[in-house]
Amino acid sequence: MPNPDQEKSPISGNKMEKIVALAKRRGFVFQGSEIYGGLKGTWDYGPLGVSLNNNIKREWWKMFVESREDIYGLDASILMNAKVWEASGHTTTFFDPVVEDTKTGERFRADHLLKDGGVDVAGMTLTEMDSVIKERGIKSPQGNPLSPARQFNMMFETSVGATASPDSTVYLRPETAQGIFVNFKNIVDSMSPKIPFGIAQIGKAFRNEIAPREWLFRVREFEQMEIEYFIRESEWQEYFEKLRFIIHKWHEHIGLSADNVREYEVPENDLAHYSKRTIDFEYNYPGKGFDELAGFAYRTNHDLSAHMKASGQSMEYIESDGTKFIPHVLEPSFGVGRAFTAVLCEAYHEDEVNGEVRTFLSLPTHLAPYRVAVSPLLRNKPELVEKARAVFLMLKAEFGNVAWDDNGNVGKRYRRQDEIGTPFCIVIDFDTLGENPDLLDTVTIRHRDSGKQERVAIGELIEKLK
Ligand code: GAP
Repeated sequence: MPNPDQEKSPISGNKMEKIVALAKRRGFVFQGSEIYGGLKGTWDYGPLGVSLNNNIKREWWKMFVESREDIYGLDASILMNAKVWEASGHTTTFFDPVVEDTKTGERFRADHLLKDGGVDVAGMTLTEMDSVIKERGIKSPQGNPLSPARQFNMMFETSVGATASPDSTVYLRPETAQGIFVNFKNIVDSMSPKIPFGIAQIGKAFRNEIAPREWLFRVREFEQMEIEYFIRESEWQEYFEKLRFIIHKWHEHIGLSADNVREYEVPENDLAHYSKRTIDFEYNYPGKGFDELAGFAYRTNHDLSAHMKASGQSMEYIESDGTKFIPHVLEPSFGVGRAFTAVLCEAYHEDEVNGEVRTFLSLPTHLAPYRVAVSPLLRNKPELVEKARAVFLMLKAEFGNVAWDDNGNVGKRYRRQDEIGTPFCIVIDFDTLGENPDLLDTVTIRHRDSGKQERVAIGELIEKLK
């Protein structure tokens, strides 16, 4: 279905394709195992992609952990005792409905095929999906008949140790959340937090998606940024609203416009097995329209209760008056790759400079891979290069993410830096060296989005670029 906003966009052609091409060309994202033909559902982040990703994660950590007194950090192992997934319900319920093309054997998500055909699949059983597929004559994308739908567990299984046996089976975690639940007691014992409090974690998660698709949107290996916020049951609505507000603030902070982010209340019959209420935060992806960016669920005390029962360890919190209870939990859960995609989509712009199309990423300064690029007006004038290097090293010591760019003429350098979202370009010219005595030790700063230039004293640069 065409996205109406995309049609209004002044960007010619397919915006998403342009972003994916730019991401490859400029070292943001490469196909995983590309020289061997790739591996579906895996993507590798290049130098600029790592920077953007790290900046997103660092800002998230600052906002949700460092700027608060009630949220604690954690980094749990990816491999966990298989009993964790039995207790959480993932071994028995973490399924997606799969159908096969009866001629090619290719597998597809039954619910996705139905949704693409305009069917509301919320709460549908496998048998119901089969009947609708039959009734409507839904075929595989290749036009072949489909097999009956069956459940497919999305956890990757492997084994630990030298000999494989049922006891050695482990799973790559499909969500970081369980690492938090199984460490609940450790954190309560070691940090003595006062309820309500949260535990936050950023880390890899793995899902054997039947149909990885749409670039970083649905992949098999991805990163999550998750918080489990522990509360008294009676307070869940109050804290649900507080966290909901902060999630919007987060999306604002990474530069997403309010028009492109919306909430979707997940209907009761489509809630995950652990959830009593879930809101998906959706982003208006170009060419695709609104789809999930992050999730926010009220998980009750499902997980802690299940781990208490299965492990025999108490997951109770003891109030100062001695009252014991198993806390309930609110869970804001963000996919790093989806945030990365949304940030790029929001930032991608085209305009016209001197009759030519200019592409620029209007990334917020706190997310841009490089904060500033420094260059000498001419690379073959040692006195300019020497001064420019001194400015570059001064800024690099302060900010770290500073680029040196002396290739081609200044106009070309600006275009290159615009395309990767560098907010400022600094040029050292003969006036910096005192050709015009009034401008001695000043440089030109050129602003990415407006293209405007200003003259600033070297001594004021750090303050100016903060
Ligand atoms: N602990 C709750 C949980 O994992 P989820 O809705 O399954 O909930 C949370 O996942 C977020 O993780 C999603 O909103 C999305 O941003 C990201 N995510 C989930 N599956 C993904 C996949 N296959 N590829 C990329 N991101 C994914």
